[in-house]
Amino acid sequence: MANTVLIGAQWGDEGKGKIIDVLTAAVDWVVRYQGGNNAGHTVEIGNERYVLHLIPSGILRPSTKNVIGHGVVVDPLALVKEITDLEQRGADLRGRFFLSDRAHLVLPYHNLLDACREQAASAGAKIGTTKRGIGPAYGDKAARVGLRAGDLLDPIFPALLQRRVEEANRVLGAWGQPPVDYAKLLADCQAATAKLAPFIADTIPMLNEALARKESILFEGAQGTMLDIDFGTYPFVTSSSATAGGACTGAGVAPHRIDRVVGVIKAYTTRVGEGPFPTELLDAMGEQLRKTGNEFGATTGRPRRCGWFDLVVARYSAMLNGIDAWALTKLDVLDAVPVIKICVAYDCDGERLTTVPANIRKLERCKPIYEEFPGWQCKTTDATTFAELPAGAQAYVRRLEELTGVKVGLLSVGPRRASTMKLTQDF
Ligand code: IMP
Repeated sequence: MANTVLIGAQWGDEGKGKIIDVLTAAVDWVVRYQGGNNAGHTVEIGNERYVLHLIPSGILRPSTKNVIGHGVVVDPLALVKEITDLEQRGADLRGRFFLSDRAHLVLPYHNLLDACREQAASAGAKIGTTKRGIGPAYGDKAARVGLRAGDLLDPIFPALLQRRVEEANRVLGAWGQPPVDYAKLLADCQAATAKLAPFIADTIPMLNEALARKESILFEGAQGTMLDIDFGTYPFVTSSSATAGGACTGAGVAPHRIDRVVGVIKAYTTRVGEGPFPTELLDAMGEQLRKTGNEFGATTGRPRRCGWFDLVVARYSAMLNGIDAWALTKLDVLDAVPVIKICVAYDCDGERLTTVPANIRKLERCKPIYEEFPGWQCKTTDATTFAELPAGAQAYVRRLEELTGVKVGLLSVGPRRASTMKLTQDF
């Protein structure tokens, strides 16, 4: 398969785990390149359900090799738990899972600082983070004081950690929080290192040598375009590059090695956490989408905010990421909806906008301009080909393609592996 970057085209939770699982059947490597265990990818195989937070979903295919690239921030204690859970369910990770020695660590003081900052923020300024320490860990990376996975293996790690804990404790003290216990944290890190050591490697030559051998790589994005630190609804974003460009900087491969970008997009829109969401439905329809789509966070269990498909976001995302094909998910969630709406533009103070404004206050004032669409009102979940879909569902998919200028390559009508159909030859 072509070297593919797979990204979320909305605010995350588009169903990437499932699409990645389908695509991994044809790839040699799957690489995570940004984010941390704020992500949660759900994959259902037969009667088994897996929720992966750090390890790439490719781990569920025994022939696939999996890498956590250096652009990811890694909570070593959470990673050990994830490895152990997978091993207990029969997975063998040896020789097929690698953690970049350059990946920055998320340590418990990052989680505490994340929580303090959120708690202290005034009502309108709370981001609604996952409290997984993501912002503070990337903050340390940018401030050049972070600890990396490779440091765990260095004999001077205790001294490095001590310096970080001392500084973190000064900040926590200023927030009125108890200090982190250095001795306990060191012992926890050492126990985690014993488990992680065989997996820590310099993954940059590993991936580039694989490319030289013509092996294929799937770059697995986490979160979504609108949560990207640069392109998202800043400051209501995550702290990493969730767009396609992040694959190069977060995995260590050159841009020309990427053959295509697949954007995962839901047939409607959801968002977790705070921040503007122009098509949000605060009524019974929003509740229906949440219930039918089981829209509750895989990481935090929080109910997701639900709304209609936002074409302004979809087009922005297609442009930014250079999306070659959509993987359209959760079409079945619309099965019972009598009238479906697509937001084709925003009305902002009387001005018609067709792209996402940078100014968050302006975006908050945007009112969606809708095109209405008749619902098909019958079940799509049993369809295995596009032709088996009701005419209304086919027309909805074709309209989304027309409006976004991007073809749907994969279409998902249910959570199981078997409920994903291929619409174009290149999948
Ligand atoms: P953080 O990444 O935990 O700092 O959270 C920042 C924002 O990104 C919050 O609105 C979170 O709800 C959101 N977020 C982080 N990870 C995910 C994800 O995997 N799916 C959806 N939203 C996410």
